[in-house]
Order: sequence, then structure tokens, then C-alpha cells
Amino acid sequence: MAGGQKHWDDVYGARSEDALTWFEATPAVSLDLVRDHLQPGEPFIDIGVGASRLVDVLIDEGFGPLTVLDLSAAALAVSRQRLGPRADDVAWIEADITTWEPDRYYAVWHDRAVFHFLTAAEDRASYTRALSAALRPGGIAIIATFADDGPEKCSGLPIARYEPEDLARELARLLPGQFETIDARRHMHITPKGNRQSFQYSVFRKAVP
Ligand SMILES: C[S@@+](CC[C@H](N)C(=O)[O-])C[C@H]1O[C@@H](n2cnc3c(N)ncnc32)[C@H](O)[C@@H]1O
Repeated sequence: MAGGQKHWDDVYGARSEDALTWFEATPAVSLDLVRDHLQPGEPFIDIGVGASRLVDVLIDEGFGPLTVLDLSAAALAVSRQRLGPRADDVAWIEADITTWEPDRYYAVWHDRAVFHFLTAAEDRASYTRALSAALRPGGIAIIATFADDGPEKCSGLPIARYEPEDLARELARLLPGQFETIDARRHMHITPKGNRQSFQYSVFRKAVP
């Protein structure tokens, strides 16, 4: 797979978190959507958390249990260091989402800018297997990717761009009958250098058998 652990460890080792193109001082859209669907006491997981500050706000607002997962030990180290003692309020998983085997259910799954790196069909199939295994019936998946008019690369790697309908179609192909779209938003992210990146955020609910 393009963009393995070494790529991401080098990225997070080379630059401070607020210089990365995907940096958000406040992850406002993610927060809005998570607050809409997560109740305190319900388990939450952020896939490919990187150095995102979403988890900081969720701790402050009394959400939890919180889990974060990333391929990159360097990325997790940045987040741990920033959180300081509050890192103990979070479960940390260093894993590749395409091989990870969840051992519990989550109520809400959040992924900003990870699924779009999965340009190989078998990696998308593996991701959705993990998603299906990790999310409880009735659980919510929030998946943000570059939109159709977004950049063609991220962190120097090729990506796949999606409109919400494309993403819904891909999920339906890989996990027939399991997910329905319940919300979709567009968002123009402004990078630290002032460039515009068009994102889509889709919210899916897992069917209750
Ligand atoms: C563009 S960054 C986004 C980080 C974070 N979600 C945010 O919004 O700030 C992509 C992140 O996904 C992680 N990543 C890439 N491929 C992955 C994989 N196969 N499994 C787990 N994490 C992965 C990278 O290490 C990186 O932290």
C-alpha cells in the first residue's frame, strides 16, 4: 500500500502539527457531527487520528470512552504529548486500519482524510470489514474525504475523491444493506498556507438486524 508507516512517521517527524496541510485548530465540522450522534458514556473511535485535536475537545466535554487509532507511532506521540496527563483518558491503538481486528463495539466511528488514501479495491474492502466489525448495530460512521473538486493528492500520495453519493455507493457495494446515509455536508478546509481544499463529510447509520 502507498503511504505505509514509514511515510507517515517521516511526515509527523518532519513538521509540527500546525504546519500540516490537514491541520485544524478546531475541527468544527467533525465536532458538530460527533456531538449530533455521540452520548457521554458511549464508545467512540477516531480512525487515522494523526495529531487531530478532536479528541481534546471530546475529553473536555465529558465524552468517553475514547479510542484513537493510527498507523503512525510518530503521529500518536504528537497527540499524546499535547494531551499530557489527559492522554490517560484515551485508549491508543497503533495499527493499520486495513489489517486491524477490533475487539469491541463502538457507537461512533470518525475518519477524516484516511479512507480517501485507499486507492486499491482490496484495501477499501479491508477497511469496510473493520468498520462493519467495529460498529455496533445502529452505530454511526462519519467519513470525511476530499470531494470531487478537492485536491488529487494528499501528503504527496494519490487519493480517491468522493461525492457523498459515490461514498454511499462504495459502502453499499462492499457492505450491501448495512449502511444508510443520514447526513452529508461539504466543507472548504483552508490549509495553514491559505490553500483551499474541498471536503465532503458523510454520516452513515449501520442497520439494526
Ligand atoms: C491526512 S492525515 C489526517 C489526520 C487526522 N484524521 C486529521 O484530520 O487531522 C491521515 C492520517 O491517517 C493515517 N493513516 C494513513 N493510512 C492509514 C492506515 N492504513 N491505517 C491507519 N492510519 C492511517 C496517517 O498516519 C495520518 O495520521
